Amino acid sequence: MDKATTIIGIDCSPRASSNSARMLGEVLRSLERDRRVKVVEQVRLADERIDCLGCEQCYQTFGYHGDGIDRVLSLMKESDVILMATPTCFGMPPALGVVLLDRSDPLWRDGQQLKGKLGAVIVNGATDPADDPSVRLCADNMIKFFEQHEMPCVQPVHLGGTLAYPEQRFPDPLPAGTMGVLEQLADEIRQWVGSR
Ligand SMILES: Cc1cc2nc3c(=O)[nH]c(=O)nc-3n(C[C@H](O)[C@H](O)[C@H](O)COP(=O)(O)O)c2cc1C
Repeated sequence: MDKATTIIGIDCSPRASSNSARMLGEVLRSLERDRRVKVVEQVRLADERIDCLGCEQCYQTFGYHGDGIDRVLSLMKESDVILMATPTCFGMPPALGVVLLDRSDPLWRDGQQLKGKLGAVIVNGATDPADDPSVRLCADNMIKFFEQHEMPCVQPVHLGGTLAYPEQRFPDPLPAGTMGVLEQLADEIRQWVGSR
C-alpha cells in the first residue's frame, strides 16, 4: 500500500470541550503516530453552518446546499476511515449528529459513495452501560448508519458514567481504563489499515 490511509474524526457533541472531542483527539493522536495514516481533520460539528435539515426538495431543483454539513460530507467522501464521537441523548446522537446522518442520504442514494470505508464510533453518556441501555443504543444506531452505507465497522466504544464527574466531564487526564479502551479502538483501526 503506497498511499496513506486517510481518517476524518467527527465530534457530534454540541458542548464546548466535550468528552467526545477529547476522546476523539486521543484516538486521532494515536493513529497519527503511524506513518501509514493521515488525519484529514478533527471536525467539530457545532462549528459548522447548517442551512439544510434534509427536506429533499433541492434534489429536484438546484442541487445540494453548500453549507458546513456539505463540507463535512465532502471530507467523509475523501476519507478512508470515518470515526464519529458522540454523547448519547436518549439512546441517539444529539440533533447535530442526526443532521449529519440525515444529510448523508444523497451519498447513499447516488451510488453508495461511502461504501467500503471503515466506520468507527465512540459513545459516551451519563449512565453506566451495565445499568442503562442508552449508550449501547446510540452506538447501535450509529452502526446502523454505517451498515446502510455498506461500510465495515470496528467494535463501537461504550463509555458511560459521566454523571459521577463534575459537569459530566471525564477527569483530565482520562482514567487509565478509558485510555485503554480508546487505544484498543486505535489498534483495531490500525489492523484494518494493515489489511488493505
Ligand atoms: C438531552 C440530553 C439527553 C441525554 N440523554 C442521556 C441518556 O439517555 N443516557 C445517558 O447516559 N446520558 C444522557 N445524557 C448525558 C450525556 O450523554 C452526557 O452528559 C455526556 O457525557 C456528554 O458528552 P459530551 O461532553 O461529549 O457532550 C443526555 C444529555 C442531554 C443533554
